[in-house]
Amino acid sequence: MPDLSQRHTFGIASRCRVLHEFCSVQQLLDLYPRETPCYIMGEGSNTIFTEDYDGLVLVNKITGVEACHEPGGVSLRVGAGENWHTLVAYTIEQGWGGLENLALIPGSVGAAPIQNIGAYGLEVGERISQVEVVDVVTGNTFTLTREECQFGYRDSRFKRAEAKYWVVTDVHFWLANDITPVTAYAELAALDNPTPVEIFNKVIEVRQQKLPDPAVLGNAGSFFKNPTITTSEYEALKQLHPTIPGFVVNDHQVKVPAAWLIDNAGFKGHCIDGVCCYHRQPLVLVNQHQATGEALLALARAIQQKVSQLFSVTLAPEVRLLGKQGRIEL
Ligand code: FAD
Ligand code: EPU
Repeated sequence: MPDLSQRHTFGIASRCRVLHEFCSVQQLLDLYPRETPCYIMGEGSNTIFTEDYDGLVLVNKITGVEACHEPGGVSLRVGAGENWHTLVAYTIEQGWGGLENLALIPGSVGAAPIQNIGAYGLEVGERISQVEVVDVVTGNTFTLTREECQFGYRDSRFKRAEAKYWVVTDVHFWLANDITPVTAYAELAALDNPTPVEIFNKVIEVRQQKLPDPAVLGNAGSFFKNPTITTSEYEALKQLHPTIPGFVVNDHQVKVPAAWLIDNAGFKGHCIDGVCCYHRQPLVLVNQHQATGEALLALARAIQQKVSQLFSVTLAPEVRLLGKQGRIEL
């Protein structure tokens, strides 16, 4: 049985029944099984295998970067199996701004639109023009425009039931010459009229300070999403906990940092059997030492329970958790 421990960045020791890499749409369609459960993945940085997976794992290795200079900017068509950070670094080297805020996010280009990766004030959906998809059951290929992708915070149409058999094969980006640098985020606001290269370097520096490197300490980035609550719920919480931060989403909703909730629930640095709540960023759970799926789920559930009890806020996982038969919910 193929070993999965090096295929997902959290690194829990696990295996699957069969694993194949595919380099083209035809190869994917030939490999896609009729019955066995099947999981499509890129680099496993948002996927955690909590135990052996009784199915087939197909890893996207479709490569290629095509750049086309057009009046007003550059359009790019990138194979879903390309590495995300390598793409960002390449665009910066070429002098094309637009993706710099998303530097150093692990994973593949094809996974980027699935949860609409975001960091330091930018979401990838803002730079995507189209996404090419194949339905592995019908074999049909089609293209979705940015609007059709229905991007939201850590969300897109690719997470809906209708997309169960869709695989992203290529992603198109539009990098306009006149993009305004995104510098609202506190760490970037201190820079004076920065170039894309300066933002790229700063984002890398900040990320290296805050987040554990998965090559050194297994993790899958933020384990939970930042919850969105109503303005009145937020005001009630603020009465009880005056220091709770909140970011206005719209007239009715406020986003609360899950890191603050977990920190103030006392979990920072807390461990269960080799799985720890990271001491610098409690939203990140780490594989400190030979973590098991049971330990991870126990810590995640303990955090959820305590946060709900103390703040009446539900934390939803940001990562994909997989068990023997496929997706598991917390
Ligand atoms: P995988 O884990 O392989 O897959 C993720 C999901 O996408 C799965 O459901 C999978 O089935 C699906 N999928 C993958 N490829 C395809 C495809 N071609 N077609 C259809 N479905 C597909 N995320 C952020 O948004 N912002 C951050 O700042 C951030 N920081 C991180 C920091 C660290 C240290 C780590 C470990 C993770 C971080 N993440 C962040 C999460 C992660 O990097 C992203 O979610 C990334 O897009 C995952 O890419 P992947 O190829 O590893 O996806
Ligand atoms: N905080 C604490 N205690 C801590 C750390 C943080 O209370 O120990 C509070 C502070 O109030 C801080 C706030 O949490 O201002 C937010 O922390 P941070 O800026 O580190 O960002 P985050 O909201 O925890 C989100 C994304 C990250 C992304 C960063 C930067 C989610 C779920 N996470 O984290 O994405 O890199 O912003 O934009 O939205 C990921 O998705 O895997 C990921 C790492």
